[in-house]
Amino acid sequence: MVGKQNKIAIVGAGTIGLSFAALHLTKDPACAVTIFDTRPDLGEYVQQNLPGYLTDADHESCMKRLWFASKLGEAVKDAAIVQEQGPEKLDFKTAIWPQIEQYAPEDALLWSSTSGIPASQQSRDMKDRSRLVVVHPYNPPHIMPLLEVVPSPETSQAVVDQTLEYWRTLERTPVVLKKECTGFVANRLAFALFREACSLVAQGVVNVKDLDEIVQSSMGPRWTVAGPFKSYHAGGGEGGLTSFMEKIGGTVQGCWEASDEDVRSGNISVGEQWQAEVCRQTDEAYGVVDTADRDTKTRKVLDAVRGT
Ligand SMILES: NC(=O)c1ccc[n+]([C@@H]2O[C@H](COP(=O)([O-])OP(=O)(O)OC[C@H]3O[C@@H](n4cnc5c(N)ncnc54)[C@H](O)[C@@H]3O)[C@@H](O)[C@H]2O)c1
Ligand SMILES: *[C@@H]1O[C@H](CO)[C@@H](O)[C@H](O)[C@H]1NC(C)=O
Repeated sequence: MVGKQNKIAIVGAGTIGLSFAALHLTKDPACAVTIFDTRPDLGEYVQQNLPGYLTDADHESCMKRLWFASKLGEAVKDAAIVQEQGPEKLDFKTAIWPQIEQYAPEDALLWSSTSGIPASQQSRDMKDRSRLVVVHPYNPPHIMPLLEVVPSPETSQAVVDQTLEYWRTLERTPVVLKKECTGFVANRLAFALFREACSLVAQGVVNVKDLDEIVQSSMGPRWTVAGPFKSYHAGGGEGGLTSFMEKIGGTVQGCWEASDEDVRSGNISVGEQWQAEVCRQTDEAYGVVDTADRDTKTRKVLDAVRGT
């Protein structure tokens, strides 16, 4: 697959699809991308949003390799890769794969960007369920290197291997999960921290802005350099994580127990009373966030960590 011209079909080009289109076009100079999306304002939407994603790329070359299809079959018929990021609805996903399977070449890779509907459910009505794999991005994928590759028990190893090869060639960071699980791993981790953040604000320990300040000036920068295991392994000195757990384990356990108790007593569930106040503080602190500024800074951080 690497070396020859990759034809990539993007099915659903909203927030994620357009970002992926930009990623393929800029990182793989030989590829051609065809978009299929049912939104009536597609041309205008792409015109307005894609240029912002193509920073430090040859804009003209990218646009020359971008095509639109008015029918699904036309988009996928000679694709090496079909990447789906339509609505997050089980009915949509289960209905579209048998159609894609019907029109796409037999050896095309079939990827879903879903945030939570596992391949084992999406592939229900396919003839060959071994072909589908979840490739879950971290938004926005034209910037964030991570791709969680989540095979179903039916997905073939060859499909997983080719998927990894493609992303490694593009210098991305694909990671395979050994089993399907709710939310996959990145969101499970992020939302665990988010729950604790909501709970601490709800209890009045800190306000929204100070909590963000704490994250940005401590574990935020640390975790771009080393994940939690490596960080605490380093924090334990010569004895590593083993020694860290011996020394700090009591504090860790104390925090875990307090966290469980606070979450329970504060009723920290989605839609409960605490939520309105946390959202109000966040609106007041930030208004509408400038995502272009966020993306520029994130790129710089990633470049710095990569040592370029
Ligand atoms: N937004 C995120 O942060 C994020 C992160 C990771 C994964 N995802 C996943 O990506 C997928 C899309 O999310 P999004 O945020 O880009 O949503 P979105 O609403 O921005 O985009 C969905 C697109 O699908 C199009 N669409 C609707 N019906 C279609 C059809 N029948 N055929 C083709 N296209 C159709 C819509 O017109 C729209 O442009 C979801 O499965 C979601 O779980 C989203
Ligand atoms: C949590 O829910 C319980 C039971 O409904 C209620 O008595 C309690 O006041 C709630 N606590 C908070 C902090 O909202």
